[in-house]
Amino acid sequence: MTAQLIDGKKVAAKIRQRVKLRIQESVAAGHNPPGLAVVLVGADPASQVYVRTKRKACAQTGIRSLEHDLPATTTEAELLALVDRLNQDDAVDGILVQLPLPPHMETSKVIERINPDKDVDGFHPYNVGRLAQRLPRLRPCTPYGVMELLEHYGVNVKGKHVVVVGASNIVGRPMTLELLLHGATVTVTHRFSTEVPEHVGRADIVIAAAGKAGLVRGEWIKPGAVVIDVGLSRGEDGMLHGDVEFAAAAERASMITPVPGGVGPMTVAMLMENTLQAADLRRNEPAMQRSDNVWTTFGQA
Ligand code: GUN
Repeated sequence: MTAQLIDGKKVAAKIRQRVKLRIQESVAAGHNPPGLAVVLVGADPASQVYVRTKRKACAQTGIRSLEHDLPATTTEAELLALVDRLNQDDAVDGILVQLPLPPHMETSKVIERINPDKDVDGFHPYNVGRLAQRLPRLRPCTPYGVMELLEHYGVNVKGKHVVVVGASNIVGRPMTLELLLHGATVTVTHRFSTEVPEHVGRADIVIAAAGKAGLVRGEWIKPGAVVIDVGLSRGEDGMLHGDVEFAAAAERASMITPVPGGVGPMTVAMLMENTLQAADLRRNEPAMQRSDNVWTTFGQA
């Protein structure tokens, strides 16, 4: 292995610590701690693990986690009614509805019901649209986390050729918008793409987010490229796998994220960050006034 490992666990811990300190300051100034409603419908084992991790991170950073575990038989109308109540509830700054929802529910309808100012996942069309128009507000957590990781490791995407493998609503599409915002030249491949190995082979930075274990072969990677693996699937061997053939890719890449311990912890850390930003927004203290102002760097592409 020649590539440097990108330690998402370490960077995520730093971000969570930063959030924790800002919450302590805010509470010391007389404000309530931010509140995050985490809604889980059904008992999908992977979702249960994700939700548990998010609730643990809330406890660690000083965010009040409000738990709403609903049975898989919950109707769409009941879920929408809960979202309405949470939208109205002053103790709730952020609302997260864990995906996937049971098949009898229309995901877009549920997401669109969330008040965009409480949409800490950044999935509401308003927030995605703001990102598309270079006016980011609440940013989708995983792409936001990838940008933070790259910045932490001194990887400037401006003018670089980045290939995003996968075009999902949760990762691939908003990832593309983040990269464009930061001045990258972006190629997106998806299930209908041809010549994926050739596209990947031209990338300075590869972001694999297809959710298919081992899809990106090590031999495709351009020597010296940076490889970010967003994929996480459990194989027949019971182990967690990324989208990238790790060992072979690490022979060619200059930097690479492990799975697990790469992007995953960053998603959770950015959720904490977004919840704090949502609380600031609701108190009319726009995140733009933060001392570590990330927003001023935008709009340059
Ligand atoms: N399911 C998989 N990833 C996510 C995520 O980032 N947020 C939510 N709400 N559900 C998910």
